[in-house]
Amino acid sequence: MPDAHPIFASFFAGVAALGERTGYGRRRAEALTGARGRLLIVGLGPGHDLAHLPGGVTEVVAVEPEPSMRGYSTRRVHRAQVPTRLVGAVAEALPLPDASVDAALVALVLCSVSDPAGAAAELGRVLRPGGTLHVLEHVQAPVGSRLRSWQNRLDPLWSRLAGGCHLTRDTRRTLVDAGFDTRQLRTISVRPAPALVALHLVGTARRPGPPATRPAEGRKCGEPMPGDTSPRLGSSLAAWLRNDA
Ligand SMILES: C[S@@+](CC[C@H](N)C(=O)[O-])C[C@H]1O[C@@H](n2cnc3c(N)ncnc32)[C@H](O)[C@@H]1O
Repeated sequence: MPDAHPIFASFFAGVAALGERTGYGRRRAEALTGARGRLLIVGLGPGHDLAHLPGGVTEVVAVEPEPSMRGYSTRRVHRAQVPTRLVGAVAEALPLPDASVDAALVALVLCSVSDPAGAAAELGRVLRPGGTLHVLEHVQAPVGSRLRSWQNRLDPLWSRLAGGCHLTRDTRRTLVDAGFDTRQLRTISVRPAPALVALHLVGTARRPGPPATRPAEGRKCGEPMPGDTSPRLGSSLAAWLRNDA
């Protein structure tokens, strides 16, 4: 189990609740678009994703290693619209059989796991072939950008203060290396998140295999929302964001 971070858990529970009131909830809903059947949520945290489940989800199994974080999610777990089970476990060792879930969600968690490649491999193991991985993760800025150099500089301090979260994760690369089809993931800038964590990878990756028997419904995952790419990030970054579909 990772180290406990009760102070960060308390802080993040407040930030996440504020995020729900300031528009981050629609990002959660966007990432979950098309999820169906049995959904695994990795690193449930305070549990706000449970309020954004699409109608096709029939059951949730969630893992969360941090005991105090599990405490913050209790009410939302009990109020969830579908049967929801919360387990104390880590992404790198999921307590689930092979190919046992139809969909999985990683939201602001691959930045925090100690072994992203191991976590991605576990996600590939427990997802059924053709299953969907729903992603909402903040990521590192493009090579050569000033933002990236600040992320590199501040990462050691940030990680200590933010419960093991890293500013420097290349999550698309991690998922590609684990065999996921990431073509439906887009990189966008989410406001009002602070610049260091504003760049997000959002949408649906797919575990290779036979196509899903029931096509996903609703708006195509990862379609940009108007007004999200910030001109304040600079023109090279804006161009990179546009080309990253
Ligand atoms: C920034 S919080 C995000 C919580 C939630 N996913 C959300 O979007 O609100 C990061 C979460 O990842 C969890 N976490 C850290 N390391 C983990 C690991 N190895 N496996 C699973 N979850 C982990 C933390 O306990 C924390 O709840």
